[in-house]
Amino acid sequence: MGLIDVGGSFDQLRFSRLRHQLAAHPSMATERLAELALRIAPEYVRFHDGERSVGTHMGSLLQIDPTRDSLRRAIDNLHKVKTFVQVVNVRSDAAYRAVVDEVLDEVSRFLPPRDRPLLHRDAAMFLASPSSVTPFHLDHEQNFLCHIRGPKTFYVWDHRDRSLVSDRAREVFYHEGKLREIVYRPDMQPKAQVIELMPGDCLYMPMGSPHAASTGNDITVTFSILMNTQSSFETVQAYQANSVIRRFGLSPRPIGDSAVRDSLKRRTLDAVRRMRDFARGRHVERRPQWY
Ligand SMILES: [Fe+2]
Repeated sequence: MGLIDVGGSFDQLRFSRLRHQLAAHPSMATERLAELALRIAPEYVRFHDGERSVGTHMGSLLQIDPTRDSLRRAIDNLHKVKTFVQVVNVRSDAAYRAVVDEVLDEVSRFLPPRDRPLLHRDAAMFLASPSSVTPFHLDHEQNFLCHIRGPKTFYVWDHRDRSLVSDRAREVFYHEGKLREIVYRPDMQPKAQVIELMPGDCLYMPMGSPHAASTGNDITVTFSILMNTQSSFETVQAYQANSVIRRFGLSPRPIGDSAVRDSLKRRTLDAVRRMRDFARGRHVERRPQWY
């Protein structure tokens, strides 16, 4: 049995509830993960230790602490204050790279052949106090969210629902990397899937799935294994193309309505970018950019 039980019917465009075997892994002990937060480059650690709700705007919430002093205090007080610690780029740490790659090597076997050489591999880790809230937001990665410790209520919304996040808001998100037009409204709540996570539960979220979380009466630990495939990169490129089209005062057709039209937009944007680089006398090795 693998570290995540994906199963033969896995579809990267569909939310799914899975199980994982990471909770007992030595590197997932809370103390080891706290050490990681204090060892990894400070710019990869974002945290908050004040009041917040599901509707708090995530874009301006988290702080970075180059000295690690307040981070250390926040971790020491994890059991009593409303703290949330997020570590990104976890795969840059040698001790965690092997486990992330083991999971991604396993799950990529269930992808279509063109997507198996993953374009992006990473992980993120979350430590949260009792009664802590992660506000509504979305991410650029395809996410295997593995719950490790404590009770957590998770809210996830359909990644294709334009009534939740408009095409324009997604264009800003995928072109500029900004959450500024992605705003929680109370009328969205009935559309959420509400899941009571326990250790061993894994949620697979397609790229761009809106989500939020709140914790119960214990410290919680969640480890997200992240990937991006060629297909998800092409979705990003199509939104970036629509963003450019809109800057010319036009109203582009929504992404996802026509695969042929989306492909044409992507190729046109790519050609324009190459022409621009050529005109500027730059030879640029184009690497996938998620915003
Ligand atoms: Fe997230």
